[in-house]
Amino acid sequence: MNATEEAKAPGPVLAPPGLEGVAVAETTIGDVRGEEGFFHYRGYNAVELASKCSFEQVWHLLIEGELPNSEQTKKFRADSIELRELPDQVSKLLPEIAHIKPFVPLDALRTAISLVGSATGLRPTMDISAEEVRQQAVRMTAVAPVLLMAMYRSHQGLEPVTPDPELGYAAAYLQMLTGKRPDPEYARAVEKYLILTMDHGFNASTFTARVIASTGADLGSGLVGAIGALSGPLHGGAPSRALQTLDEIGTADRAYDYLREKVASGQRLMGFGHRVYKTDDPRSTLLREVALELGGEQADLAQHVEQTALQVLNELKPGRRLYTNVEFYAGVVMNTAGIPRDMFTPTFACSRTVGWTAAICEQAGHNRLIRPSAIYVGPPPPQPLPQGYEYV
Ligand code: ACO
Repeated sequence: MNATEEAKAPGPVLAPPGLEGVAVAETTIGDVRGEEGFFHYRGYNAVELASKCSFEQVWHLLIEGELPNSEQTKKFRADSIELRELPDQVSKLLPEIAHIKPFVPLDALRTAISLVGSATGLRPTMDISAEEVRQQAVRMTAVAPVLLMAMYRSHQGLEPVTPDPELGYAAAYLQMLTGKRPDPEYARAVEKYLILTMDHGFNASTFTARVIASTGADLGSGLVGAIGALSGPLHGGAPSRALQTLDEIGTADRAYDYLREKVASGQRLMGFGHRVYKTDDPRSTLLREVALELGGEQADLAQHVEQTALQVLNELKPGRRLYTNVEFYAGVVMNTAGIPRDMFTPTFACSRTVGWTAAICEQAGHNRLIRPSAIYVGPPPPQPLPQGYEYV
C-alpha cells in the first residue's frame, strides 16, 4: 500500500472506554444477561446449577461441555482427586513463597501456579492437542486449592494438610484450611459460592486469559495473567472490603449516616454496582439466601446494611441502576464458613480457574491472535528530536 492509499484506508474503529457493549468473540461456555439478571453455563441457569449440583458436576459441564451422569461424575471426581498431588519440586518451594513478606495469599497463588506450570513442563497450547490442554486444565484446577492452603498454613507455621480423598472439591477446600472435616452445612454453602463464581461471561480476567492463550502460550501463563487481572478491587478484590464496611458500621442504627457520608464524599460502596447487571445480580440473590440460612448477627446486619445502601444509592445516585453485586454476601458466607478474609479473593480465584481454563481451551481450539489497535492522539508524528539531542 503506498502512502496515498494508506491515508485513504479506513482506520481502526474506536471502541467505547472499557470495551462496554463490544463483543469480541463467540463462545459456548456461557453468558450474562445483565438486563434480565440472569447468567448461565452452557445454557443451564447457573443459579439452579449452584442450588442443585456438586462442584464436580458443574466443573465437568464447563470443561467437558456437558452435564455428567452419575457414573461420569464419580469418575471425574476420582480423577480430579488423583490430580491434587503436587510435584515434589513445587512442594519444597511453597514454604519459601509463604515466607515472602508481606504474605499476600493471592500473589502467592499466582507465583505457585507459575511454578507448577514450569515443573510440569506445560508447553505452548499451539504445540499440543486439545485433549492435552484439557488434561492440563483439570490438573491446574485440582492443584490450585492445594497450593493455596499449603502456603496459607505454612505462613502460620502449620504443616500442610493432605486433602482427604473421601472429600469432594468444596469440603476438601475447607479441610485443607483447618485440618478438620468441615461441617457439611458450611461445606455446602461454600460449594454454592464456588459454583456461582466459576464463570461469568467475558469479564476482565477471562478476557486476559484468552488474550494470553491467543498468543499460543501455555495454559499456566494464561492463569497467571488472569489472577493478576482478578487482583484489582474493581474485579475480585472487593469481598473483604464489603465485610470491612460491615465492621465499620458495627450496628444497624449507624448504617444510614455512614453509607450516606461515604457516597456523598465520592467513595464507592463495596459490593454494589456492576458493569453488566442493571438489576439484581442473581449471584447476590442466592448468596443472600445462603447467608441467611447459615444465620448469625453478621447476616442480619448485612441484610439491614444492604437495604440501607440501596436506599442511599437511590437518593444520591438516582438513575444509575446500582444493585447489590456478588461480593456483598460472598464475604458474609465465607466468613461464617470459617474462611479468613485474606483468603476471599484467592477462593474466588480457585473457583474461577474452572472458567479461565474452559476459556483457554476454547480459545486454543479456535484460535486467532487477539491484537487490537489503538488510536494515537499524541503530538503529530514524526516529531523532530530536539536540536543537539545526543546518545547518553
Ligand atoms: N458506590 C457508589 N457509587 C457507585 C458505585 C458504588 N459501588 N458503583 C458505581 N457508582 C456510581 C459511579 O460513581 C458513577 O456515578 P456518576 O455517574 O455520578 O459518576 C455511576 O455509578 C456509574 O459508575 P461507573 O464507574 O460508570 O460504573 P462501572 O460500570 O464502570 O463500574 C463497578 C462497575 C466497577 C463494579 C462499580 O460499580 C464499583 O466500583 N463497585 C464497587 C466495587 C465492587 O463492588 N467491585 C466488585 C464487582 S463484582 C465482580 O467483579 C465480581
